[in-house]
Amino acid sequence: MSGKALLFSPWQINDLSLKNRVVMAPMDQYSAQDGYINQWHTHHYISRAIGQVGLIIVEVAAVCANGRIDPGDLGLYEEGHVAGLAGIVEQCHSHGSKIALQIGHAGRKGILKDTQLLAPSALRFNAQYALPKEMDQEDIKQVISAFKLAAVRAKHAGFDALEIHAAHGYLISSFLSPLTNQRSDAYGKDRALFLQEVLEAIKEAVDLPLLLRISAHDYHPEGNTPEKMAQLLEPLDALYDALDVSSGGVVEAPIKVYPGYQLSSAQYLKETLGKPTIGGGALEEPKMVQKIIASQVVDAIYLARALLKNPFWCFNAALSLGQEIEIPKPYARMVHL
Ligand SMILES: Cc1cc2nc3c(=O)[nH]c(=O)nc-3n(C[C@H](O)[C@H](O)[C@H](O)COP(=O)(O)O)c2cc1C
Repeated sequence: MSGKALLFSPWQINDLSLKNRVVMAPMDQYSAQDGYINQWHTHHYISRAIGQVGLIIVEVAAVCANGRIDPGDLGLYEEGHVAGLAGIVEQCHSHGSKIALQIGHAGRKGILKDTQLLAPSALRFNAQYALPKEMDQEDIKQVISAFKLAAVRAKHAGFDALEIHAAHGYLISSFLSPLTNQRSDAYGKDRALFLQEVLEAIKEAVDLPLLLRISAHDYHPEGNTPEKMAQLLEPLDALYDALDVSSGGVVEAPIKVYPGYQLSSAQYLKETLGKPTIGGGALEEPKMVQKIIASQVVDAIYLARALLKNPFWCFNAALSLGQEIEIPKPYARMVHL
């Protein structure tokens, strides 16, 4: 293993130091009320911090009330949302984890009742979804301002980084894909323009590291591929700090899911764009995860469902791989009876 990175070794996203290469992927808990966190969120995130996850990415928080995907989404569209999030940040920090917040807008995939959905083009996701309004210049301006304000609030809450949700067919993602963006104006000619303006607005307002979560593949013959996504993102190089590579969700398309199914896309984007890259998908087995890190396919791996099943995944993984991990004092007898 000498010279090869260990899963439980530190890494950096620019100035942000992380104690290991395990990232908790953002996972909507559908449990908030009016965007406010509650006891569930507190227990959910702090247990993963006790479990020594290096970077926790808090589930998507909507930048406007009508930009929620589900009525149980977190929000950051009111000043009042900040205090609860700040409490989670402080407690995760006390266990040595870094914590980022994902911010986003549902776009055409919202399921709130009596809400006008917004999208680059007036195309519904499927028959169960409402028809979205094609965004005009004023809508675009308002949503960009909402992203900016949410970023300022996230900074006030003490987050170490922000993740922009540009994946899974939600608003930003639907601007990026040719399947959902059929505009003839500047936002259609350059499908990355909306994302660019969101990133520029955020960067102007806060100095937080910016992670970008994208769908590298639409799994559709006319959709985005890792190659097309690299072309879209190349001009945005100076506007974000790390990539978090997911896939799908833009249109209904079958996805072949197997351990590491998105890693070849992540590796391609890491090599082409040269950014610190987080990859994952159906990962769980520590030896496989260690091999991915050692062979530098990506810089860090994300786990979603594996961390739902076991908040203490890192303890088992580090112990089974024979790597060092900090064990909180009250749990020391996990290894020494
Ligand atoms: C309950 C649940 C909620 C999710 N919510 C989000 C979310 O808020 N934002 C996001 O980008 N992805 C979300 N995802 C996708 C995960 O972050 C992850 O990409 C996906 O589950 C694949 O990783 P896994 O195979 O390790 O579970 C969610 C997944 C689950 C299971």
